[in-house]
Amino acid sequence: MMRKYPHLCEPIKLGNVIFRNRMFSAPMGGTDITADCSVGPRTPGFYELRAAGGAASVTASELVVHPQTDSSHMFHIDLKTPGNLAGWTFLADAITRHGAVASVELSHSGQYAGTYLIDKDRKKELTQFGPSDWVRPDGIPVKALTVEQIDDIVRSYGESAALAKRAGFQMVMVHAGHGWLINQFLSPAFNHRDDEYGGSFANRLRFARRVLQSVRDNVGEGFPIELRMSGAEFFDGGYDINGGVAIAQGLEDLVDLIHVSAGSYQFGFFRTHLPMFAPHGDNVWLAAEIKKHVSKPVATIGALNDPAQMEDIIASGKADVVEMARALLADPELPNKIIAGRDDEIVHCLRCFTCMAERPATGTRRCAVNPLIGREVEGIHLIPAAQKKQVVVAGGGVAGLEAAITAAKRGHNVTLLEKKDVLGGILVSEQALSFKYEMYQLGLTLERQARLAGVDIWLGTEATPEIIESLDADALIIAVGSRPVVPPVEGIDGENVIIVNDYYLKKDIVSGTVVVLGGGLAGCECAVHLGMEGHNVTIVEMRNQLAPDCNIRHRPVLMEMVDRYTSVLLNHTALRICPDGVVCCTATGEEITVPAQTVICAAGQKPDRSAVDALRPSALWVREIGDCARVGNITAAVYQGYHAALDI
Ligand SMILES: Cc1cc2nc3c(=O)[nH]c(=O)nc-3n(C[C@H](O)[C@H](O)[C@H](O)COP(=O)(O)O)c2cc1C
Repeated sequence: MMRKYPHLCEPIKLGNVIFRNRMFSAPMGGTDITADCSVGPRTPGFYELRAAGGAASVTASELVVHPQTDSSHMFHIDLKTPGNLAGWTFLADAITRHGAVASVELSHSGQYAGTYLIDKDRKKELTQFGPSDWVRPDGIPVKALTVEQIDDIVRSYGESAALAKRAGFQMVMVHAGHGWLINQFLSPAFNHRDDEYGGSFANRLRFARRVLQSVRDNVGEGFPIELRMSGAEFFDGGYDINGGVAIAQGLEDLVDLIHVSAGSYQFGFFRTHLPMFAPHGDNVWLAAEIKKHVSKPVATIGALNDPAQMEDIIASGKADVVEMARALLADPELPNKIIAGRDDEIVHCLRCFTCMAERPATGTRRCAVNPLIGREVEGIHLIPAAQKKQVVVAGGGVAGLEAAITAAKRGHNVTLLEKKDVLGGILVSEQALSFKYEMYQLGLTLERQARLAGVDIWLGTEATPEIIESLDADALIIAVGSRPVVPPVEGIDGENVIIVNDYYLKKDIVSGTVVVLGGGLAGCECAVHLGMEGHNVTIVEMRNQLAPDCNIRHRPVLMEMVDRYTSVLLNHTALRICPDGVVCCTATGEEITVPAQTVICAAGQKPDRSAVDALRPSALWVREIGDCARVGNITAAVYQGYHAALDI
């Protein structure tokens, strides 16, 4: 059969193992870790989704190989802890029973032990061991590992690999990138040893070679070993791509797949995890360069999710395998959809960093566009409704669409009423911001899914009690969204003022110098976009902080972009808008005029409560979701939409 993306669908053999296609699920740490660092009962569900979704291999992470020198809260594998091996076995089963290869990442954080610990005090109590004695920029002292400790760690890598194999894993990944211990030995920035593990390049390579040999000795020939490395470190003093090529060449005889990532967790986080402002596949060149110099297969990673781009990477020989992390949280079914040529149904990752921010915030995972992530045991299976009901969804934004799709998939008769001529709600306005295009696309994808699921969509129809009653609704989901807050500032209705939600309609009339009134998330992102377009932009914010509700992972990169592309005035309150600018009151009570030809008003959203109150009596079973219940983010809208539909 002709496949739309034949190269991505082509199997590949690594060692003695055949992988069903070229799309691998990259390591992503689960969060269900028991007090003794075993795999908790929720963990298999976290990884199973991606195995069932068609990935050729799913890598569980991060198995800390040597707790004695890497005391953190990550998974361990041992025979001493009751149930530990069983937990890993259930996890391997959850992956392999769907035809995917189960792999596990063997890791050691070295001088960054405890990075993931939420308890900062405990983190400080840990001894950090690295290649060399030094004091980290955050003041934490690092102790050089002794040769005896190195020997012990090397042995532990092998023992962990053997236990993983016994548990049913069919591959192991050795993590030698992202600034963790093996990378610290490889890096000229961190390895200042003068024994056989430091100094010359061959010496810096020695620890990695011994680890890989120890793993090989324990898993045997033919058992695939994947080496995860950073193609370049991307910070001053770190190695560049030439160093990456040399490392790959120096280790390739011991491995079956060279997985080329980039950067480091501590000094190049946004190279390792490309943010929404970076092009997709911005790190592919590293893999492509390394591939020219090695004979073993090479994998690439970094903001990949576009089938055509990934197909081209394989077809053009830049890499042999594509790996995805966030894209497969957003849509674990992505590989299956590519294989079936249903790529227009792929829900794309927004690169909003909700997934990564949730762990430090709550100790769990979430994904903005996938309500199941981190909650896999609460509703993963769409159980067909016992009784088919008439469901009416009022509002075709994200929350309403998600509810309508889910209810329809469960077999209900669903009618979705949307007062505008277009679905997607507030996301429609994101189409004008290039780096938020995927948010706009989410509305389109959900619309397509709703139509495929058989939702009866009435555009241009505002939900009224009469319509809902005429539809004989057994269940009503109210998802009518929110309205922009328009502050009572003189001149706000002037022709030079654009409400941020309308920017996509009026972008052609934005000229010259711009003031963005309101430094919340929407204001900051619009300001950055305008700055990138070449406008001279000032954000005027009455609070003393920008985007306080922005998650902790997106925030640093957003602030970097704000610094690069805009000027910011905090503690400034707009008094009136004139044709030539915005008159503001400063923190000290002074009046100043901030020049602007165009003013973008981004003062937030408020729930559309009057519509909710009018609709509520129209059915016996009613649920309010999304912004009309409480102004929130996409994550909340998707989650509430999904679960409201499960409750019917
Ligand atoms: C939620 C999450 C957890 C991650 N956990 C790990 C991990 O435990 N080990 C690791 O090597 N990389 C981890 N990563 C990094 C990913 O494997 C990957 O390198 C990175 O996200 C870039 O790929 P992407 O652009 O496809 O997301 C994690 C990434 C995410 C988003």
